[in-house]
Amino acid sequence: MVEATPESISLSSSSLPSVSVLQQLRAATAVQHKALEARLPLTSPDLDRSTYARIIKAYYGFHVPLQHSIECFLDAATDPARQKIPALIKDLHALGLHRAQIDALPLCTDLPVIDSEARLLGVMYVMEGATLGGQVLRRIVADRLGIDADTGGEFLDVYGRDTGRLWKAFLARLADFDHPDGNPWVVDAACDTFARFEHWLDRAGVLK
Ligand code: HEM
Repeated sequence: MVEATPESISLSSSSLPSVSVLQQLRAATAVQHKALEARLPLTSPDLDRSTYARIIKAYYGFHVPLQHSIECFLDAATDPARQKIPALIKDLHALGLHRAQIDALPLCTDLPVIDSEARLLGVMYVMEGATLGGQVLRRIVADRLGIDADTGGEFLDVYGRDTGRLWKAFLARLADFDHPDGNPWVVDAACDTFARFEHWLDRAGVLK
């Protein structure tokens, strides 16, 4: 008979410290985040205004139907504090598009499925997390293109000074949900969202 030792007991899976859903999300999406960051020309030294405008158009084409899908699942309008579409529309106007041109932009139909709170949180992790990177990107776009919140850069700073507060509030909601049975769905939805967003941007021809 093999005696249980303190070491073997402490290594049994039931006593391993559990990995939070946030840690799982970070580990599972790190490669996808790096890849997308490398392919998006937003940090390229040769970023120009027309490339930037094409990126914002493609972002609009993903965010509009995704927001609709979130609202269908919630059976309610998006939290007003987390509205992103008005900022995208404002930027598109500032970049020279008329209302009819904005309405005619292609919209993504190959979206991540949102059929549970778990999958909603996975999708939100990706799209809310992007507001953190936006804080870096808005400075780059201001330096390189002279674009600020009123001249086409509102979306990159969509939550403004509330960015940190809203991210922390999202993390609290994620921590409340955290449960071994649901976490795989959260992680799967986040990976799927990164993959579909990258695919959409690729099809729009805005990636390197
Ligand atoms: C060139 C493009 C991008 C850059 C330079 C960038 C940069 C960053 C940076 C610096 C952070 C960490 C911020 C912090 O810890 O305070 C971050 C976080 C994050 N970004 Fe990006 N990002 C880019 C694009 C994107 C895109 C397109 C998405 C998804 C649509 C995305 C999703 C995320 C997520 C989910 C996090 C949160 C990670 C976490 O703390 O768990 N990023 N990004």
